[in-house]
Amino acid sequence: DKVVLAYSGGLDTSITIPWLKENYDLEVIACCVDVGQDDDMEQVKIKAIESGASKVYVEDCKEEFLTEYAFKALKAGAVYEHKYLLGTSHARPLIAKKLVEVAHKEGAKYICHGCTGKGNDQVRFETGIAAIDQSIKIIAPWRIWDIKSREDAIDYANAHGIKLTVTKEKIYSRDQNLWHISHEGGDIEFLENEHKDEIYMMVKPLEQAKDTAEYVEIEFKKGVPVAVNNEKLDAVSLVTKLNKIAGEHGIGVIDIIENRIVGMKSRGIYETPGGTLLYAALQELESICLDKDTMSFKKTVAQKYGDLTYSGLWFTPLKDGLDAFIDSIMENVSGKVKLKLYKGNIKPAARISKYALYDEGISSFGASDMYDHKDAEGFIKLFSLPTKVQSLIKSKNSK
Ligand code: ARG
Ligand code: SIN
Repeated sequence: DKVVLAYSGGLDTSITIPWLKENYDLEVIACCVDVGQDDDMEQVKIKAIESGASKVYVEDCKEEFLTEYAFKALKAGAVYEHKYLLGTSHARPLIAKKLVEVAHKEGAKYICHGCTGKGNDQVRFETGIAAIDQSIKIIAPWRIWDIKSREDAIDYANAHGIKLTVTKEKIYSRDQNLWHISHEGGDIEFLENEHKDEIYMMVKPLEQAKDTAEYVEIEFKKGVPVAVNNEKLDAVSLVTKLNKIAGEHGIGVIDIIENRIVGMKSRGIYETPGGTLLYAALQELESICLDKDTMSFKKTVAQKYGDLTYSGLWFTPLKDGLDAFIDSIMENVSGKVKLKLYKGNIKPAARISKYALYDEGISSFGASDMYDHKDAEGFIKLFSLPTKVQSLIKSKNSK
């Protein structure tokens, strides 16, 4: 039988290969899903074969990751616990889908992943896989084996002839893709420790941010970003460009205590430079293109969307339904937003849309045809009627 292994090229997933062969007698097919983690994929391929995999798949899913996952969550305004732009969360269902595709191609009955038993990722992978093919059996070595530390892993690698390519002590648990990088564990676990600027990999510390302000203009079509500074770009180029621009200005870092699916609270430092600009710009565009009730209801949907995404419930009827709603209300959210960036700050500089509901003729303090100051008097009378009644009853009863 065969097993498809979610493979990264790192120490942990490399020792998993001989472990699977020894303990399950399975042929190991390594599968590395490229969502823009900064790894040399040729090296990853070589490493998998050297570690004993019989075949390696490297799936380039960068564009799909952005257009079908990150941009969907962006359009929905999904954020987890007010801060987290979900960079790891929405990569997981995509990786799950690719693992299943490879399993079907190879006729494999098993999928193996390297997540720990304490985290969210195991839940997201296994829920995602089950949503597509519930018959696939999961192997999660970290919930079974007695390799508990980095030292154990190195010993196991040495005993099984796996070359150690990483020599530096691994301080943080990290997950990187085009949308973000996460840092967890190490000194961050102690809440009295301010996180160190040295951990940043995509964003400059504020003290080193550019000394001059910069404008960036982002264009959206139906809530999806399509151009930066008047240049039409594919999703990968667009996000890469925004990551660089925002990173230089120290924009896009959050430090969060989040509630994990498995019950515990945990702390994470996440860098989402380009994504932070996109969320900020889209919100500005919505403020001119959406009416009050739609905006308010969208907040509720965004909250639910963020929770579903975080919890690994991406391939669900509710998520599809929310997408349909979002597609419908975002039909006219097209236009351009210019942002001014300076030392970690984002200031809206211009909001332009031919669908704008904002009309300076109506909003301006001067006179206009659609609005007569005198009408306000009658409006306020009716609007304040319940308040007046309450006030009347209150004063009657207090006598
Ligand atoms: N806590 C974040 C989340 O749940 C980041 C997880 C990072 N995953 C990892 N394997 N390092 O989405
Ligand atoms: C892991 O446990 O594999 C990483 C952290 C997480 O999944 O939340």
